[in-house]
Amino acid sequence: MTSRDQIIKLLRSQPVGYVSGQEISRRLNISRTAVWKQIQVLRDQGFEFAVKHAAGYRLLASPDLLLAADIENGLNSRLIGRKVVALRETASTNSLIRTLADQGASEGTLVVADRQSAGRARLGRHWTSPAGVNLYCSLLLKPDIPVQLAPQMTFLSAVSVAETLQQVCRLPAVLKWPNDVLVNGAKIAGLLNEMNAETEQVHEVVLGIGINLNMTADQLPAQLNYPATSVLLESGRKVDRLLFLRALLENLDRTYTEFQEHGFAPIRRRWEGLSVLINRPVVVEQAGQTLQGTVVGLDSDGALRLQTADGKIERILAGDVKTSDF
Ligand code: BTN
Repeated sequence: MTSRDQIIKLLRSQPVGYVSGQEISRRLNISRTAVWKQIQVLRDQGFEFAVKHAAGYRLLASPDLLLAADIENGLNSRLIGRKVVALRETASTNSLIRTLADQGASEGTLVVADRQSAGRARLGRHWTSPAGVNLYCSLLLKPDIPVQLAPQMTFLSAVSVAETLQQVCRLPAVLKWPNDVLVNGAKIAGLLNEMNAETEQVHEVVLGIGINLNMTADQLPAQLNYPATSVLLESGRKVDRLLFLRALLENLDRTYTEFQEHGFAPIRRRWEGLSVLINRPVVVEQAGQTLQGTVVGLDSDGALRLQTADGKIERILAGDVKTSDF
């Protein structure tokens, strides 16, 4: 936690009273001048303070920013989000967390940014990431699994995102293989999971999660080859980003614990229950070939199981899957 985060945490613990500069300096073990300088930086970030001679500082208002202290404080989580890095802006939270991982960041570390200047999506695409509206975050996991099972982490995060949208926003979120989260046929969230493997074993997995929460129609990216939406557009209501993120982290933590204790089977069942493709006839475009069949499930390595007209089961590892409505 930075000293600015600590100041906010301390002032929030005294919502009506004042905390003196001397007390802040003693608690944080920094000089009075350093306290004053940090208060100026916080003012520049949009925090408002009342200052009273001989009494000190009182927090009057906070900007709509995700702060590490607010995310971490009292979070009901064993591992996920125990250490948070929250920034106003970064190029891509996935890129930043990979740098932190190289510097020894612990499993469960979360990087969240208010805005991304170069947000990344799958297939080298760009992820539109304006400030103040959505959620852009990346999580570092170190699962003890062989490389070919790394896609399991994608399904783990997809299940947690869809369930959190259902629970917090009361939206009918569903999943489309491999990693899209949809509401009413439009994409509301995307996952970009990246792996660092040593020999046959997974070393680290970065779960990159982008969720369109309070984006308005004019903020949606203009040229997409799929329909996109946000919680605000679907429900007509703004969602509290902090509340949503905390609920998501707690869900991810429970799901990851379940994975460590019972393996992938329970997560696969949850994914199949949320999938729009299960028991549906689909057309798959794969390396220039077209395959038709009915989706019957998910394999443990993340392959989609497709039953063709002659009863054979085909395993789909990559490609574009289309139904009559998606
Ligand atoms: C996709 O749907 O293709 C994946 C989009 C993933 C976007 C998120 S936003 C947070 C994290 N940082 C990134 O640069 N990308 C992911």
